[in-house]
Amino acid sequence: MKSAIRPRLGVNVDHVATVREARGTHYPEPVTAASLAELAGADQITIHLREDRRHIQDRDVRLLRETVETRLNLEMGATREMLEIADDIQPDMVTLVPERREEQTTEGGLDVVGNASRLADYLSELSECGAHLSLFIDPDPDQIAASARLDVDIVELHTGDYCEAAGPFTNAHRPSNFDRKQELKRLREAARVADSLDLVVAAGHGLDYKNVLDVAAIPQFEEFNIGHSIVSRAVLVGFEQAVREMIDALHTGRRTALELL
Ligand code: PXP
Repeated sequence: MKSAIRPRLGVNVDHVATVREARGTHYPEPVTAASLAELAGADQITIHLREDRRHIQDRDVRLLRETVETRLNLEMGATREMLEIADDIQPDMVTLVPERREEQTTEGGLDVVGNASRLADYLSELSECGAHLSLFIDPDPDQIAASARLDVDIVELHTGDYCEAAGPFTNAHRPSNFDRKQELKRLREAARVADSLDLVVAAGHGLDYKNVLDVAAIPQFEEFNIGHSIVSRAVLVGFEQAVREMIDALHTGRRTALELL
């Protein structure tokens, strides 16, 4: 039964590198944060090597490959350069994400429906690196069905619209275009569809210590990739503590699902 599955946490350490790159120093090291996250119970370390190298650098990827003891999930755009890097590094998991240079963070999921044949070719080459393959997509049944046809292992459903609706800024100063209940329903239905197609279902983007509770209560979500909120809390309470608190939040959310059974 899916609700009995312990939700796994992938800690995204990109923004440790963001702090370092802001000053061009050699600290803080994402590799140190990754080790602390693992000591605190993280199940996976996630990094996004962006084309513009705004945070994670090639050196970070190499160091993390050598030191991560759980699972290394490399997020990347579907480009030739990234294919070569994945082939060289051999991460445990690759998540393909859309990437536009001007965006602040990953905005919107991959259009698998519109790029099915190009992605099929790309995934067939990528599979040679031996990694589990994941696609970061919107919680949309058509995108999920198209992903299942490409035979990937995992879909990570974009939680950005839900998080925007659920955020503390959904007030007169920064009204959201999204309705929280509606977005949660969308995530619930999408997770059910993905699970019925035998895909592992992950969630990511914009999740924090509060809005994650309702998503963790959706039993089909097995994995959560969370970065900005954990790194932000780590600045105040330390990295291990911040990771432990997120693991607690995932478990609290999942318990709600069990109690409703
Ligand atoms: N998952 C994917 C695919 C992402 O692109 C990102 C952002 O890099 C995250 C998860 C983490 O998002 P956040 O930093 O908002 O927790």
